[in-house]
Amino acid sequence: MHKIVSAIFLAENIKKIEIEAPRIAKKRKAGQFIMIRVGQSGERVPLTIADSDPEKGTITIIVQGMGKSTRELNTKEAGDTISDIVGPLGTPSHIEKFGTAVSIGGGVGTAIAYPTAVALKEAGNYVITINGARSKELVILENEMKAVSDEAYITTDDGSYGFHGFVTQKLQELIDSGKTIDYVLAIGPIPMMRAIAEVTRPYNIKTMVSLNPIMVDGTGMCGGCRVTVDNQIKFACVDGPEFDAHQVDFTNLTDRNKLYLPEEKKSAEAFAHKCNLQSAGLQYLLDLSLCHHDFPAVDLCRDGFFCINTPSFLIEITMATQHITTKERFAIPRQEMPAQKADVRNKNFKEVNLGYTPELAQKEALRCIQCKDPACIKGCPVNIKIDQFIKLIADGNFLGAARKIKEDNVLPAICGRVCPQEDQCEKTCILTKKHTSVAIGNLERFAADYERETGNVELPTVKASTGKKIAVIGSGPAGLSCANDLIQLGHSVTVFEALHELGGVLVYGIPEFRLPKEIVKSEIDGLKKLGVNFITNAVAGRSITVDELLKEEGFDAVFIGVGAGLPWFLGIPGENLLGVYSANEFLTRVNLMKSYQFPENDTPVFNCKGKNVAVFGGGNTAMDAVRTAKRLGAEHAYIVYRRSEAEMPARLEEVHHAREEGIEFLMLMNPLEFVGNEQQWLTGAKCLRMELGEPDESGRRRPVPIKGSEFILPIDMAVISIGNGSNPLIKQTTPDIEVSKRDTIVVDMNTMATSKDDVYAGGDIVTGGATVILAMGAGRTAAKAIHEKLTGIETVQPV
Ligand code: FES
Repeated sequence: MHKIVSAIFLAENIKKIEIEAPRIAKKRKAGQFIMIRVGQSGERVPLTIADSDPEKGTITIIVQGMGKSTRELNTKEAGDTISDIVGPLGTPSHIEKFGTAVSIGGGVGTAIAYPTAVALKEAGNYVITINGARSKELVILENEMKAVSDEAYITTDDGSYGFHGFVTQKLQELIDSGKTIDYVLAIGPIPMMRAIAEVTRPYNIKTMVSLNPIMVDGTGMCGGCRVTVDNQIKFACVDGPEFDAHQVDFTNLTDRNKLYLPEEKKSAEAFAHKCNLQSAGLQYLLDLSLCHHDFPAVDLCRDGFFCINTPSFLIEITMATQHITTKERFAIPRQEMPAQKADVRNKNFKEVNLGYTPELAQKEALRCIQCKDPACIKGCPVNIKIDQFIKLIADGNFLGAARKIKEDNVLPAICGRVCPQEDQCEKTCILTKKHTSVAIGNLERFAADYERETGNVELPTVKASTGKKIAVIGSGPAGLSCANDLIQLGHSVTVFEALHELGGVLVYGIPEFRLPKEIVKSEIDGLKKLGVNFITNAVAGRSITVDELLKEEGFDAVFIGVGAGLPWFLGIPGENLLGVYSANEFLTRVNLMKSYQFPENDTPVFNCKGKNVAVFGGGNTAMDAVRTAKRLGAEHAYIVYRRSEAEMPARLEEVHHAREEGIEFLMLMNPLEFVGNEQQWLTGAKCLRMELGEPDESGRRRPVPIKGSEFILPIDMAVISIGNGSNPLIKQTTPDIEVSKRDTIVVDMNTMATSKDDVYAGGDIVTGGATVILAMGAGRTAAKAIHEKLTGIETVQPV
């Protein structure tokens, strides 16, 4: 929580708010911004930092109440708090001695132009400021601008103050007067910035604009803020927000910023209505949900969806497990995982799989023939003692089973749900030779759920303090497993997370229906009880750097487990049309920001109801995205994949579930171009049919285009799910960490040590997109190496 120190209106609807944020105040530079989440159901909104006071530990923002979030922010007073602030984000303004520099602010953009004008002055420039507003009452920061300017001009559209006209006219007047201008920075509404670009273009004056596209995370993770600059896609939050005005595609920026206009209007109206009721003393109407006026009904996940006809599991089972013969074990069929009915679950976000009952779990456990040399253990990346925990389940000792698993796996309830066991432990189960493998993942999940649901979670012992401090960057599976091992070994551990919630990909990437967030929270709560310190809203490479952690904050080692969060796009025409998402953005909106509960939660997402949605890709993330679209009401939800189903990398269970839920699989199809209407909304994907040729370097049969087979697939929304690259922030701010050609961090795989002393890395940032359990294994390997390096004490296993 961040306390508001002061809040005053500068003009109607424009408020200056000073907030406690010491870390940001210390680091912020001109041109940088923060993401702010006003309350628990709020959206993440980017706002530029107008000023900061490192001594006081405060930052100042200037907010114009436009949408719901900014209006809500403007109702805040001194002493109130704000849930989340993350920053400073974005690349700072490039400041040098240009000569004569003109800083132009339009409306509330003046608040952003101000710190840059200060920095330009400090760099020795002759600074001219032009501060534009619609009328005199809306002029802000006049005195502050004058104080840093060699020449300062105010313009008003209505002529009520200063120069009568637009900022562009004033700029043109200055140019026409023969003044040499070397640099222009313009910040304000898009039409103003576009017009400035056209004024300076003929004179070849270097002109920068600070762009304000829609953002979700602000950390380079979703691609929602993408803009076209010099015909290339750039992410405004990490590559910008300032770009060369003469290279920006303003048409596309304008179109993309219209994406959620209807939703924003609805949300702002609902907020205004709420304020009216409150000020009329009618809060009780809201509390009692009696007032539905203007609140659009959210008809998903509201009520009545969890009506599962659970089969009756009347299983007679002998508890005398020791006496069952191998033949009898073979005779037991693999126990099916109970699940919600497909036509029920495809309309809700509750978990699909319901978990084994104790009877089912015991029956399944009896199938394990307790091999002398269990191959399944070798198939598990963290070598869980599978035979032992399954025997404990068969014996009815469910808590014992959970604790046995936890000797090797800190997140069993998560792994039991999302690990691809069929390609790991279950693949190597001896039973697969003649039968189906033991359902190891289902049993792992059962034991973990039993321990948690019966309130019997037992904390492991923590060794005496070593006095060593370790920073873990990223709270996904790699970071959590590393933190778990290190805390138990007696180290002080602090985990830094970029988002406002802990769990990394487990919370923003994997949907609730596959991994309920309460499971992730409960596993993380366990780590908190052990003493792990968690800091949210801390972006590595922006809020903190690896060098700062080692040199200024006194950490003895750093583990980087930030995942692979930079979404790849197809690189085909039309990818910036409205309605084209990366899977990261779509899933982050729905999973992290709970946009399926819009407008109760402020973050909107494309309204899929009755629409055709295509997800391009064939992995688990693609399955998550397409099943999410179906739950949001899509009429047709397609998977479009360029190879055949046999080559799809998604887990069989996910494909099976998706098909049951009505997902349509369009195989051997490759998108060539997205097409749209005059308003720039997506209307279809031009696709080419393929056939399978010879195997390629991956061993899968290569898709070969069928000439002349192009056709248009009519769709309203597209989700690109073809994988992720590495977020560039760590590389940019820690150049002495060696990275590969793919920008992944290079490590010694035996220790996960990077090329930089005392810095380790693991998970997707090292391997590229992989599995939860592999990331956890890497976290544990690093923990072991860190412990040995810091203490000189060798450990066979981390714990
Ligand atoms: Fe920029 Fe998500 S907001 S990548």
